Amino acid sequence: MRVFSGIQPTGAIHIGNYLGAIRQWIELQDKNECIFCIVDLHALTSPYDPAKLENSILEKAIVYLAAGVNPEKSVIFIQSQVKEHTELTWLLNTVTPLGDLGRMTQFKEKSKKFKENVNAGLLNYPVLMAADILLYQTEIVPVGEDQKQHVELARTIARKFNQKFGETFKIPEAKISETGKRIMSLSYPAKKMSKTDPSESRIDIFDSPEKIKEKIMRAVTDTGKSIKYDLKKKPGISNLLTIYSLLANKTIEELEKKFEKKGYAEFKKTLANAVIDALDPFRKKQQEFLSRDVYVKTILEQGKKRAQLIAGSTMADVRKKMGLS
Ligand code: TYM
Repeated sequence: MRVFSGIQPTGAIHIGNYLGAIRQWIELQDKNECIFCIVDLHALTSPYDPAKLENSILEKAIVYLAAGVNPEKSVIFIQSQVKEHTELTWLLNTVTPLGDLGRMTQFKEKSKKFKENVNAGLLNYPVLMAADILLYQTEIVPVGEDQKQHVELARTIARKFNQKFGETFKIPEAKISETGKRIMSLSYPAKKMSKTDPSESRIDIFDSPEKIKEKIMRAVTDTGKSIKYDLKKKPGISNLLTIYSLLANKTIEELEKKFEKKGYAEFKKTLANAVIDALDPFRKKQQEFLSRDVYVKTILEQGKKRAQLIAGSTMADVRKKMGLS
């Protein structure tokens, strides 16, 4: 099966991105044809610093590699380097219902968050994402829950295009992890962990052990004393239990039992150590890849060529179907 997914390069990659998306990628890459993209064009829709963009992109390629994406099995490339993404976006715009774009939850949230910069790119963002997915005749899109609506729209766009111009695109399906689909903020457990929120609200994949400990000890918990999973009454503790369970490969029940007679402080201390242990191999690999930037750039260059071959072939078909020569 063809798998496609991507992450925006601005902001640090956190354990929400890892548990919601990247972990699924690693599982899928053994038996499928995987393409993982660094979606720099999407990142331009929110405020960013052009001088830092190139470095952020390279950092993300290092995250993919350090977290276990194998460049011999999977394609890793930068979205803006394959021009077909922007070309297909324009063409797909012509079959995308405007009303659907205005209804996207992320558009509504981002227009509130970045009030002074509600640009048309923010509205068209899901069309570019549909182009990313459809260009590669993707069947599976492993993402966190927040991207489900965008994948649904990509399906709608593909169906509309196929109806109007004849069978062209495969209809993709979102793959969402049951347990890691929505990791919440450490500071506001009612909100999802986000790259654009303050650093203390998230654990970044390359955070130092000291930082991890500090952030977990300061994480907002709930009233009461028990370590019990209860999303309604104890969203803070439930989120910490989910993180613990996924990173240490233990069930929630096992953890509830382990901490039955223990307080929040001891729970948090043990959790901090478990998170530090789980992320330690990534930090070590990061150091290794930082000193091999030529190697990382070569992988991106090869990825671009492999992506271009597939994208070019889909675009040739799309152009023909639409009557463009
Ligand atoms: P982005 O960069 O916001 O997030 C990258 C991936 O991480 C997931 N994610 C989470 N999962 C669980 N808990 C969280 N708190 C959490 N926060 C983020 C996201 O769901 C996503 O899978 N539009 C996309 C990038 C994109 C894309 C694509 C994805 C562009 N084109 C094509 C798939 C296919 C985005 O902004 O993700």
